[in-house]
Amino acid sequence: MYPKVAATHNKIIAVLGGTGFVGQHLVRTLIEAGYQVRVLARHRERCRELLVLPRVSVIDTNIMTLSNLHKHFAGCSAVINLVAVLNESKKGAFQRLHVDLPRMIIDACVANKIERVIHMSALNAYAGKAPSRYLTSKGEGEDTIHTGADEGINVTSLRPSVIFGPGDNLFNRFASLLKCITHLPLACPNARFAPVYVNDVVDVIVKSLNKKATFGQRYDLCGPRAYTLQQLLEFTIKTQGINRKVIPLGNGMSKVMARIMGMMPGKLFTYDNYLSMQIDSVSREQFPAIFNITPQPLEAIVPRYLMNQNQRGQFDRFRLYAGRDN
Ligand SMILES: NC(=O)c1ccc[n+]([C@@H]2O[C@H](COP(=O)([O-])OP(=O)(O)OC[C@H]3O[C@@H](n4cnc5c(N)ncnc54)[C@H](OP(=O)(O)O)[C@@H]3O)[C@@H](O)[C@H]2O)c1
Repeated sequence: MYPKVAATHNKIIAVLGGTGFVGQHLVRTLIEAGYQVRVLARHRERCRELLVLPRVSVIDTNIMTLSNLHKHFAGCSAVINLVAVLNESKKGAFQRLHVDLPRMIIDACVANKIERVIHMSALNAYAGKAPSRYLTSKGEGEDTIHTGADEGINVTSLRPSVIFGPGDNLFNRFASLLKCITHLPLACPNARFAPVYVNDVVDVIVKSLNKKATFGQRYDLCGPRAYTLQQLLEFTIKTQGINRKVIPLGNGMSKVMARIMGMMPGKLFTYDNYLSMQIDSVSREQFPAIFNITPQPLEAIVPRYLMNQNQRGQFDRFRLYAGRDN
């Protein structure tokens, strides 16, 4: 798909967050495009899928230490940051991972004379103006990383709505829950999203690397259609061919559910998640034309991976996500 050209040959791209859902898709696409990839991970042994790939090195390190970033960015031509958490299992994680880490990335890039950074933010991330701490901290991190421009670093940030694709945390999570529950109470049923396909997102990242017109830009990334959360759940039920009932909760009950679930292990749904869903995750902007990508509709893709999915793998992934610490 990507011609291997001199522009990519022998270039090493450092990826932070390469072990996550988007990261695993991205690493494969970067290799396909001819890059070498250096993934900085905290649990190298958990990355079996990455360890077997050619031209990928996975380095076990604490990314929250500047000296480690400094050391492991050496020789890289660009850095891609995908690190984030949806919920804080440790107090201060949003600040550390979403705001402090981008600052350290810039410092380590300056020290290594790296001039290119691509940063994954989120739709509706605005410092000081977003409804939830997740979105506010993502907005602060986005602004922080763009200060790299003052130090000669070309930053591009991407602001996707919810992302779908094999291994995602949306449809796979719904499918896992639907296996255990016949009547599913749904908080925030009218929250709206424009799901965007993970391959479209990683194509944007890879195409951005060498595209000067993207330097300094921030792009909203949305799929071709918007859906309510209830529509997305009902689509999952239909795709699975099972008989399940969705019980949409009103605002008061959604808040109560968020408070209760937020106290449970794994924090599958928290009050901060509830707050994030108080604004629609949709954009007025079209998918950025500069990338020459027609965003894929979920109807064409989700049934393929939900149906083909090995049931055990699905549960393992679900557990892994729910159990992640930060
Ligand atoms: N998925 C979506 O629907 C969506 C929507 C909008 C924006 N985004 C953004 O896209 C990016 C990637 O999302 P994703 O879905 O791929 O997330 P993900 O699957 O949860 O992956 C997050 C990555 O961050 C790493 N990480 C988290 N806490 C860490 C810590 N304390 N130290 C080191 N690494 C840590 C994880 O490492 P481990 O593997 O070790 O846990 C993992 O590699 C994020 O910036 C997210 O905000 C995602």
